[in-house]
Amino acid sequence: MFLFRRRSSLNLDISDLSLKAGKLSKRGNDFYLDKIKSVPVPAGYMERGRVLKRPEVAELMRGLLQSVAGDHRRQSIVNTVLPDTDTFVKLIKVERGATDANLNDNIYKEVAHHIPYNIDEIYLDWQKIPGLATKDTEQVLVGVCPKEIVDEYIKVIHLAGFVPQSFEVEALAITRSLFNWRASRKKSLANRNVIIIDLGAARSSLIFWREQGFYNSDTIEFSVSVPLSGMQINKLIEQKLLVTALQAEQFKIKCGLSDAPECQGVLLQLLRPMLDDLTARIRHAVHFHNTYFEGASIDKIILSGGGASLKGLDVFLATELGIPVELGNPLINIKNHDSLNYQQALSYCTVIGLGLKDFIK
Ligand SMILES: Nc1ncnc2c1ncn2[C@@H]1O[C@H](COP(=O)(O)OP(=O)(O)OP(=O)(O)O)[C@@H](O)[C@H]1O
Ligand SMILES: [Mg+2]
Repeated sequence: MFLFRRRSSLNLDISDLSLKAGKLSKRGNDFYLDKIKSVPVPAGYMERGRVLKRPEVAELMRGLLQSVAGDHRRQSIVNTVLPDTDTFVKLIKVERGATDANLNDNIYKEVAHHIPYNIDEIYLDWQKIPGLATKDTEQVLVGVCPKEIVDEYIKVIHLAGFVPQSFEVEALAITRSLFNWRASRKKSLANRNVIIIDLGAARSSLIFWREQGFYNSDTIEFSVSVPLSGMQINKLIEQKLLVTALQAEQFKIKCGLSDAPECQGVLLQLLRPMLDDLTARIRHAVHFHNTYFEGASIDKIILSGGGASLKGLDVFLATELGIPVELGNPLINIKNHDSLNYQQALSYCTVIGLGLKDFIK
């Protein structure tokens, strides 16, 4: 008989409008989702990823994390995500230099050209992408976050009675949740470029992801924030159709972009300028991608986040952009994948991806 040690991790997604937490565990080679939950964050507590009311946010966090952690002894340690509006993640090419210390210096020098902060105002983390190295150069994925944000998150998590174990750029957690790690380890495929569009309540982002035939060399290339959000869509519906916030949310979920008789394409008409802005930003980012990353075309778009469920959005984007679009599946790596309904799961990509980090090395 084999006895498998059960390891678990507690993970937290901090957003302006909700806190989400999930406990994941590993038994043998399988990953399990033990518990996942969210609480709404009242208006004025958080703004653009920044904590405005520390004691109140800490109190919400404590309740949520305690209920998800249960009474597991080790579960005061939590992995957390950083807001993608203020973080920066990019694949950069640098001279290797004679030693790792040289490589580190070269990375700091190169990153300084890419960020709107002084180098002493940021925390920087990096990892080599092994399959992309040449004799003299390394390609390195760098993640950057202003120190003031990380320091504030540390304070609020401590105040909630928990200990932050790691902070991760959101794009990394999202991509980890959406790709099948087992399949990718056995794969032998030609290079493939994918855009993940994460559509949240307060912000959205485009993440450019490259899959490669080499072992362990799939990587994010870069990510950009886009202003479209679920909240912004609801506000527009409220103003134009003179309905309450709740009615706007219900109408959005019921109709989406559908032209069925009871919906008549009303929302598509209302949202057209926002959707045109989104497609323009995607085209612009694809142009940047094709210039900076040497002419590779985009094979697929994957939608994630709660907004991915907007009816008809996948078909709309595929038609406008001429790129196949599909909905992501953040339960793809989870053994007990029937523990959460698929649409709900789209809101939990970040938490699930954070949790998998502890198990997938
Ligand atoms: N069926 C649906 N159709 C359209 N929108 C939906 C649907 N279901 C959920 N949403 C929207 O998804 C949004 C929530 O998504 P998500 O949970 O990914 O956001 P969040 O992570 O809390 O916020 P953010 O990532 O912006 O900080 C809400 O605006 C909600 O209205
Ligand atoms: Mg989110």
